[in-house]
Amino acid sequence: MNYETPRFYRVMRYARETDRDVIDMVGGNPDWEPPAALRDGLREYADFEPARFQYPPSAGLDDLRGEIAARRGVDPEQVVVTNGAGEANYLAMAAALERDAGSEVVLTEPVYPYYPGKTTLLGGRQRFVETDPDGHLDPRAVREVVSEETACLVVNTPNNPTGAVYPHETMAELVSIAEEHDALVLSDEVYDHFDLSGRFASALEVDSANRIVTNAFSKSMAITGFRVGYAIFPHELAASARTRHMLVNVTGSRPAQYAVLRALRETGPDYYRANRERLRERVETFTAALETAGADYTRPDGGFYVMARFEGYPGTLENVERLIDEAGVAGMPGESFGESRREWLRFALVTPRVEAAAARLAAYFE
Ligand SMILES: Cc1ncc(COP(=O)(O)O)c(C=O)c1O
Repeated sequence: MNYETPRFYRVMRYARETDRDVIDMVGGNPDWEPPAALRDGLREYADFEPARFQYPPSAGLDDLRGEIAARRGVDPEQVVVTNGAGEANYLAMAAALERDAGSEVVLTEPVYPYYPGKTTLLGGRQRFVETDPDGHLDPRAVREVVSEETACLVVNTPNNPTGAVYPHETMAELVSIAEEHDALVLSDEVYDHFDLSGRFASALEVDSANRIVTNAFSKSMAITGFRVGYAIFPHELAASARTRHMLVNVTGSRPAQYAVLRALRETGPDYYRANRERLRERVETFTAALETAGADYTRPDGGFYVMARFEGYPGTLENVERLIDEAGVAGMPGESFGESRREWLRFALVTPRVEAAAARLAAYFE
């Protein structure tokens, strides 16, 4: 498996360039509206004075950092506003590897493919821990791979691609394993607003100096193109993360941060609830059709993705391209997420055409 070149772009391009009508279920770009206040914030920004078109503080607008810190119950000094969860994960892994407390990064299998690439980029070595067939992570399996060499354990809940949501007990156990081995837990919680199970637990619930939490507004506000995310560091790692962020980026986008701040302040729970409900309905529609088609599938507890397995149709790149050409549905090859899901395909439920996609798949595999 080539972890270094994520295949999202290749599959998306293939789907776009084909002649037939294709239902795009490749990437995690929400198809729904951002909060109304976000659009208001952007419009308002266009008329601000030129001084507000200049560099914001490198670690993020003070008010945005303050708002995030207040909501997450941490000190603003612990918060770095980043270019999405992607940069937040990079800073977090770098912080873990810089401590000289090991050079291994423990990742789950299946894995979100950018984690192994970032590990290599930062000079770390990957070790993998298998999740259960339903995507849950057994802390006993984690104990077997964590060692003195472990710099950090990266978890993602709700999970891409499995849809698993790790309960509080799992998170507490993972943090305590990290503490015992002088390692860090990096908890990527970018899908936290899409917990369909009610069991989501942030690593922030577990008080410890051995965890870093990353997140973004990319999914929760349907703005993957804005690039506003954040990482919450233990106090002793925050300053060097801020420095790395500054040396890599100088800073982030000021209008985007302003609009996010306005949306955070003015958007009530109804917005997030409606998006969750939409997703829940799509999960029902899609999995019911997969059931009818006789496919194996996952029923996500959270996040955007359903994995499906069709008899005699392994989740290779070639098969994904064939499905685009012959069925008009674009998904991701399961092999992109690791050995254990080679037989599977991943479908992102970020299209209103979920029902049509399921019907096309059912007809194709009949
Ligand atoms: C698990 C996970 N982490 C991070 C990201 C990247 O988030 P962002 O767009 O905020 O960088 C994604 C995007 O799909 C993701 O699925």
